Amino acid sequence: MEKTVGYAVVGLGVGRNHVTAAADAKGGKLVAVCDLRQDRLDRMVNILKERGTYPEDLKLYSDFDEMLKDPEIDVVSVCTPSGTHAELAIRALNAGKHVLVEKPMDIEVERILEIEKARVRTGLKVGGIFQNRRNAVMEPVKKAVENGDLGEIFTGFFRVNWHRTDEYFLESGGWRGTWAMDGGGSLMNQGVHTVDIMQWLLGDVASIRSETRIINHNIETEDFTNSIVKFKSGAIVNLISTTCARPGFGTDIQLTGTKGSIHVDAETLIRWCICRDGATHEEIVAEEREMLAKYGAVKSTGSADPTAITLRGHAYQVQDMIDAVRFDRDPMVGPMEATKAVRIINAVYESARTGKEIFFD
Ligand SMILES: NC(=O)c1ccc[n+]([C@@H]2O[C@H](COP(=O)([O-])OP(=O)(O)OC[C@H]3O[C@@H](n4cnc5c(N)ncnc54)[C@H](O)[C@@H]3O)[C@@H](O)[C@H]2O)c1
Repeated sequence: MEKTVGYAVVGLGVGRNHVTAAADAKGGKLVAVCDLRQDRLDRMVNILKERGTYPEDLKLYSDFDEMLKDPEIDVVSVCTPSGTHAELAIRALNAGKHVLVEKPMDIEVERILEIEKARVRTGLKVGGIFQNRRNAVMEPVKKAVENGDLGEIFTGFFRVNWHRTDEYFLESGGWRGTWAMDGGGSLMNQGVHTVDIMQWLLGDVASIRSETRIINHNIETEDFTNSIVKFKSGAIVNLISTTCARPGFGTDIQLTGTKGSIHVDAETLIRWCICRDGATHEEIVAEEREMLAKYGAVKSTGSADPTAITLRGHAYQVQDMIDAVRFDRDPMVGPMEATKAVRIINAVYESARTGKEIFFD
């Protein structure tokens, strides 16, 4: 008989998405949740009861190491502040649990490499959350890039024009916007998804030159970054992130190549212009119309409200993690893949700090 995968989640902020996904997952069983805060544990129980997926035998923990002793647990989702991820993930691996870690997998590349070492040593599975790769519109975009439909992609922009309130940075113990726990600001926290998509679409980075500022939040890191990113392919793109764009404007991804351009705002397709060989103007317009009918109306974004981030991507990745364990395969994003965005973001910060262009190997 196929194994049922016992699932646990530590950290019940966005971790609640992992919990509800595990409660719904095929081949999985929600076994336990853990948080230092009793109000978060209570809220989780209420959410599960309200949606009719509360397992009567659910175990509630406030001590992570106690939870790790539970033999019914196979997988732990780590959803605590970003600067704690590697430490908790490695503790879970050492206790014999597979782990799915929220983005960024950690704030330092070196610490993600420690997770990778623990993964290899234990032979367990490690997945990283980058749920935006699963946005429906990303499938045709990735395909178009891989097929060379845009010709040589020589430029583009990746702009995360979001807004976060002062309260957002004060709540939950004030870890957000600190170097130690958030590892940065608008780029490491909000922008990391878009940086991941950028490198997923355009490949290896050659160099980065950046400026960062604190515009109007009382934080130690940044709430605005602006970078020129050069890729080994020759593409030169503009990467911008901010949490000061009231009331929360959007996430623009635009690619421009010698044969066409694509513009996406978060999950919504804005333009799709591909000049296929021999295509008439009418055919180009008809293809765009068809793509807009399919992908142009989707609206969901966390640009103004962190709780508006959809469940779909998390549900996909939790199911993917459970299936990775059930069918003994790799999860969608592994540690080495998860280092890429973090390396880019830390290069942005280094460039801003030193005033120098940072070159990649
Ligand atoms: N994928 C996404 O779209 C998305 C969205 C939001 C946040 N995140 C990521 O999720 C992580 C958490 O962010 P958040 O906004 O939910 O933060 P949060 O502060 O709201 O929640 C974190 C929770 O972890 C708990 N916690 C911390 N240390 C713990 C420990 N040792 N044992 C048990 N519980 C512990 C805290 O009590 C808190 O309830 C961050 O890494 C963030 O980047 C991802």
